[in-house]
Amino acid sequence: MSKEKFAGVKGMNDMLPADAAVWQTLQQTAVGVLERYGYQEIRTPILENTKVFTRGVGEVTDIVEKEMYSFTDSMNGDQLTLRPECTSAVVRSVNEHSLLYGATQRLWYCGPMFRHERPQRGRYRQFHQLGAEALGMEGPDIDAEMIMMLARIWKELGVGDVRLELNTLGALPERQAHREALIKYFEGNQDVLDEDARRRLYTNPLRILDTKNPEMQELVNAAPRLLDFLGEESRAFLARMEQLVSAAGIEYVINPRLVRGLDYYNHTVFEWITDKLGAQGTICGGGRYDPLIEMLGGRPAPGVGFAMGMERVIELMRECGRVPVRTQTDVYVIHSGGDTQVQAMLLAEALRDAGVRVMVHPGKSGFKSQMKKADASGARFAVFAAEDELAAGTVSVKALREGEKSYAEQTALPLAGAAAAIAAALAA
Ligand code: HAM
Repeated sequence: MSKEKFAGVKGMNDMLPADAAVWQTLQQTAVGVLERYGYQEIRTPILENTKVFTRGVGEVTDIVEKEMYSFTDSMNGDQLTLRPECTSAVVRSVNEHSLLYGATQRLWYCGPMFRHERPQRGRYRQFHQLGAEALGMEGPDIDAEMIMMLARIWKELGVGDVRLELNTLGALPERQAHREALIKYFEGNQDVLDEDARRRLYTNPLRILDTKNPEMQELVNAAPRLLDFLGEESRAFLARMEQLVSAAGIEYVINPRLVRGLDYYNHTVFEWITDKLGAQGTICGGGRYDPLIEMLGGRPAPGVGFAMGMERVIELMRECGRVPVRTQTDVYVIHSGGDTQVQAMLLAEALRDAGVRVMVHPGKSGFKSQMKKADASGARFAVFAAEDELAAGTVSVKALREGEKSYAEQTALPLAGAAAAIAAALAA
């Protein structure tokens, strides 16, 4: 037989059992908050037709140009893509099932996304997002409510210290005027532009503002600002949003250079950033995308949403010492095979009826080895189903951890009432 050992795909991680508790805590906490704001779950397939993303995210974006896992379905020639984000997929689904006819939608989703990026700390090729989309509502109240919801999620997760950056991308005619001004400005400074910027000059000049190239920072800092091109309506939209966010006591900074990496945004854009995670400190991003629903074939309707990178939020939870400890079991049942194993398994079932987490030692081993397993399982109590005790109609129970109030000494219990007594001791 071949001895070849396989490794996972580069940039794609296993979630190991030791990490299950922190993933579950993140999802349960976030969903608990989302539900308090009326959000309902939606699940879409991991594969979509490539056009959903080329149209939705935009042709001239890093995601579509360089990062999508796209392939031709060899069975029927369809062009498919592993979803690099979920907003376009949710909008595709909402359009397909006419969920916005005479209704608004508040939706949340959670799952893996795929981008062929250079893997590094906090940046993976398969990563997970938990996100929400509010569809059919014009804002800015719903935009502000989304910010309040996120602030509440950070607070309940115990990762308080995250910075909120806000910006507006205005409305289309304002962006066009700004775009023309940008092109003119960058044309006059061609010698400072790097290759990426030159390539984007006429296709997506706004993205040049997003450059990480230190040699272009001065140029970019002095570039025409969209804020100066905003009309009254866009200014009022931003002002009302700021007012609502401030009234809720949430601190923020306006970052005029925040443009986001996807093309579907207008008006509100935002990011939540932490300094605790190094270069990949953006734990959540989002904004308003009023053109998207129509761009993907639906009747025009507004939308706003966000997605958080779960790997990054989990790393931040670790940095903040907010990793929950969850043992594998509460009770470990030790027996000596034969009929004692039957009794042990039945007692375990009775404990599970009472809602207790129980493991029965598998197979047959010596007492010492079973005790070692019981200890390693993290159980609070070991239960002994020994032959002589069972013959007398009892089992015994002993606490495994220091400071445990019940059963500090090994104690015999009548078999009939054992499950209820142990469940009560665990709950005390
Ligand atoms: P995004 O900014 O591309 O927005 O991604 C949202 C978050 O996902 C990022 O802030 C980051 O935390 C995480 N993330 C992105 N790429 C990676 C990666 N390669 N590895 C680990 N984490 C990553 C969107 O995807 C939009 N769909 C958000 C949205 C929803 N806008 C409106 N509605």
